[in-house]
Amino acid sequence: MVWNARANPTIDVAEKGSVILSCERYDPNTVTPRESTGAVPFLSAFSIDTPAPARSRPSICPPVCRVAKRERARREKREERREKRRMSGNGKVVCVTGASGYIASWLVKLLLQRGYVVRASVRDLADPKKTEHLRALEGANERLHLFKANLLEEGSFDSVVEGCEGVFHTASPFYENVTDPQMWYVLSKTLAEEAAWKFSEDNSIDMVTINPAAVIGPLLQPTLNTSVAAILNLINGSCSYPNTSLGWVNVKDVAMAHILAFEVSSASGRYCLVERIAHYADVVKILREQYPALKLPEKCADDKPFVPIYQVSKEKAKTLGIDYIPLETSIKETVESLREKGFVSF
Ligand SMILES: NC(=O)c1ccc[n+]([C@@H]2O[C@H](COP(=O)([O-])OP(=O)(O)OC[C@H]3O[C@@H](n4cnc5c(N)ncnc54)[C@H](OP(=O)(O)O)[C@@H]3O)[C@@H](O)[C@H]2O)c1
Repeated sequence: MVWNARANPTIDVAEKGSVILSCERYDPNTVTPRESTGAVPFLSAFSIDTPAPARSRPSICPPVCRVAKRERARREKREERREKRRMSGNGKVVCVTGASGYIASWLVKLLLQRGYVVRASVRDLADPKKTEHLRALEGANERLHLFKANLLEEGSFDSVVEGCEGVFHTASPFYENVTDPQMWYVLSKTLAEEAAWKFSEDNSIDMVTINPAAVIGPLLQPTLNTSVAAILNLINGSCSYPNTSLGWVNVKDVAMAHILAFEVSSASGRYCLVERIAHYADVVKILREQYPALKLPEKCADDKPFVPIYQVSKEKAKTLGIDYIPLETSIKETVESLREKGFVSF
């Protein structure tokens, strides 16, 4: 879920130096465009701080040169728009709770890429498995600040969220097999969301919730998380697959949806994120097509009829600008990531 201090930002963030592409400073009297030199790409050829040496140029531009200039101007505008989107955080301070987790690690990565300053909480700052992959992210040296906080300690998060414009709250235990009924995952999520809606209404907090289905895709963290384990269990030699139909969605889409829910001012309410509902039998079929030599489960875990699939509308997620990564790609990315991190070898 995302808390947003849009209405009343508490931080006066100093304007960060935005990245200016060298081509924006293009001056036809001082710089030779790449078309006429036919050599180095223009963007990387000159930096804004080091103007290129003056060259004598004809005073009237031939038609070819004018077309090239128009094309270059269009390219510059495109780049400028892309850069603006990419750096939309522009020094805004936000908080990510449970930052070392599967979804949160991607969230931190994308926030840093967009220029945000990220105050991230983990439970154990001394555990390299929880922090190293975050510290290694691009932009982390300059804009990632790690804090220790635990949901079970009253007031633990106060100093972490202090002064942030938005809070991405992902910290939560996520285990499927528990013995204590009070820890039942599905119930805990339902009760937690209800409590969060009540709290946000009572305290006039602008809140949006992101409700993803089973999240798969590449791992950034070195440890295995519960939802990716669902795919690992299919490729590590098991004989059967569960008689279950699940919604599936890529972790990168989930992380981006969190950010867009914060950035898009019209975002409100709940966003269910599902690229596709598929039975485990269909997931195994996709795996078999992608990895024909792999030993995959041949049969369902029970003889009952397959649990039917259902539909979840994509319309609301589309309004955020989410264009889902297809399930086939998500499965492939998950397997490749599990292989790369040594959870399977084949
Ligand atoms: N993955 C999915 O398929 C999926 C689907 C729907 C919703 N969600 C929700 O999305 C969120 C993130 O899920 P995930 O898959 O990224 O899970 P994850 O990898 O297990 O990450 C959960 C994070 O929560 C932190 N956490 C657990 N107990 C905590 C506590 N008492 N105090 C502070 N932090 C605590 C963990 O911190 P440590 O690193 O210190 O252990 C961990 O970083 C969860 O709320 C989950 O319920 C996940």
